[in-house]
Amino acid sequence: MHHVLSCDQFSRTSLEQLFVLTDEMRVDGKKFSTSLAGKIVATIFYEPSTRTRLSFEAAVSRLGGSIISTENAKEMSSAIKGESLLDTIRVIDGYCDAIVLRHSDSTAAVDGASVSLVPIINAGSGSGEHPTQALLDAYTIYKYKNNIDGLSIAVLGDLRFGRTVHSLVKLLSLYDDITIYGLSRDVIALPDEYVTYLSQKGVSYIPCRSLADLPQDIDVLYHTRTQTERFKNTDLKIEEFIINQSVMKNFSAHTILMHPLPRRNEISFDLDDDKRSVFFQQSHFGMYVRMSLLHNILAGS
Ligand code: CP
Repeated sequence: MHHVLSCDQFSRTSLEQLFVLTDEMRVDGKKFSTSLAGKIVATIFYEPSTRTRLSFEAAVSRLGGSIISTENAKEMSSAIKGESLLDTIRVIDGYCDAIVLRHSDSTAAVDGASVSLVPIINAGSGSGEHPTQALLDAYTIYKYKNNIDGLSIAVLGDLRFGRTVHSLVKLLSLYDDITIYGLSRDVIALPDEYVTYLSQKGVSYIPCRSLADLPQDIDVLYHTRTQTERFKNTDLKIEEFIINQSVMKNFSAHTILMHPLPRRNEISFDLDDDKRSVFFQQSHFGMYVRMSLLHNILAGS
């Protein structure tokens, strides 16, 4: 059993072993083309997804496995008839070798794992965590910066409901001499539990309220979309920090611009050809990182 529920589970060693395997997957993926032969992976998504579901499904296919899927489980599974998540997991675990689960409830993956006979991979749990996104984010930083120790990284946007940020800051805390700047509006600031977590891990966390508060030579800008779907007050309007060409002029040639995607207007399209914009490459890396993860869980290593 090898559930992937939270970034708490990873050590620096396990993360770096995954990076090495991901390099191998990128260079010589064909070598692994039968590593999941005979295995079935279920992708069960109660919330919409482009990248996570399709990259997991591409990863399974590239490793020679098979997929069973429900891409809109909220309406197209028996959840619509009132079946509980746990009953659904108890049924599906008899059909497959692993379950990739996305759900609007922040405890869904942990709850699912408590009853599942096969590994559960958290593909995004409400406003909790999105560990496999953070794995590919950390891999992207590692590839562009050659090292993660000593980096300064700004997380921007929705730090309260943005599950990718919650998972990423946990992985960054595995490294030495990290400084994290958190730029958000007050109402969507990083929750105290993560601020405390970082403090306990010795990470310097600096809350910011303006783009001008960020150092010009910062290593990474990691922007995120405002998660309006999580707001109880649907009238709440949040003024976003827009990153465009004139903003990026203030940052160094070595500052990389990341985003888990989807973006709306928080990163201007006029930056897509800027060599510092790495968000599409980041997304492409996701498939290889997920291949590595699935190989480790289902094929052994
Ligand atoms: N980054 C991410 O989780 O994207 P999707 O919602 O498209 O899977």
